[in-house]
Amino acid sequence: MKPIGVFDSGVGGLSVLAALRAELPHERFVYFADTAFAPYGERGDAYVIERSRKVTEQLIAGHGIKALVVACNTATTAAIHLLRAEHPALPIVGLEPALKPAVATSRTGHISVMATRGTLASAKYAGLRDSFAGTASIRAVPCDGLVKAIEGFDTQAISALCARYMAEAGPFGDATGEVDTVVLGCTHYPLVKNQLQRHAPPTLRFIDTGAPVAQQTRRVLAAAGRLSGGEGGLILQSSGDRSALEAAAARWLQISPQGTTAASA
Ligand code: DGL
Repeated sequence: MKPIGVFDSGVGGLSVLAALRAELPHERFVYFADTAFAPYGERGDAYVIERSRKVTEQLIAGHGIKALVVACNTATTAAIHLLRAEHPALPIVGLEPALKPAVATSRTGHISVMATRGTLASAKYAGLRDSFAGTASIRAVPCDGLVKAIEGFDTQAISALCARYMAEAGPFGDATGEVDTVVLGCTHYPLVKNQLQRHAPPTLRFIDTGAPVAQQTRRVLAAAGRLSGGEGGLILQSSGDRSALEAAAARWLQISPQGTTAASA
């Protein structure tokens, strides 16, 4: 069976990959980190569309992938409709900030969404947010610089930015008018959830999209008759420094791939 392609601007999609591997242990995955061209989130749609197209084409040509998971909110927002139109035979799963479960479970009705500037400025996000108008108060917190700090494993910058953006996302609590739920609307952010949690009461709920995306991928594969029963596997590829991706996979997720290769897209 052919592998499933998964891509992100960098290491963030590893948080989705972990959920995919847990949900679909018999699948083979090719994870592509577009590190040489990261971050996507502060660069505008044209750039993200061009990179998403190139990476998708490379995953198809190089691996004959049977499905694609766009493990990046920013790329999903900017490019998934084009990727689907250009590759109609390829099942493509994307993700978006998990507002629906956040609104459904928030008791105070006050939610903050941490995401890239690109995601939060998009028409797709505005439509999603507006669908909850009158039901919940939803505050956008664009986290400029946080993806770059995570990519560079710059612990000082990660710590300072987590403190700054959590201050903007609050005040937290369970009283009227307080935020009780934070949506992690960028796949990099679950990797620093422990750091974010330091600036919040233990009751604050963080919601990300890893598990629901993995379940959706299973449904999509089943509907297409493409579920594998074989041995699982993982290849890591990067347009940048492959060893940095391997180190990130080991550091963040204890993932150790069967084979890793360099690639340029
Ligand atoms: N992980 C990407 C996302 O989910 C990060 C985008 C970026 O590179 O800035 O939006």
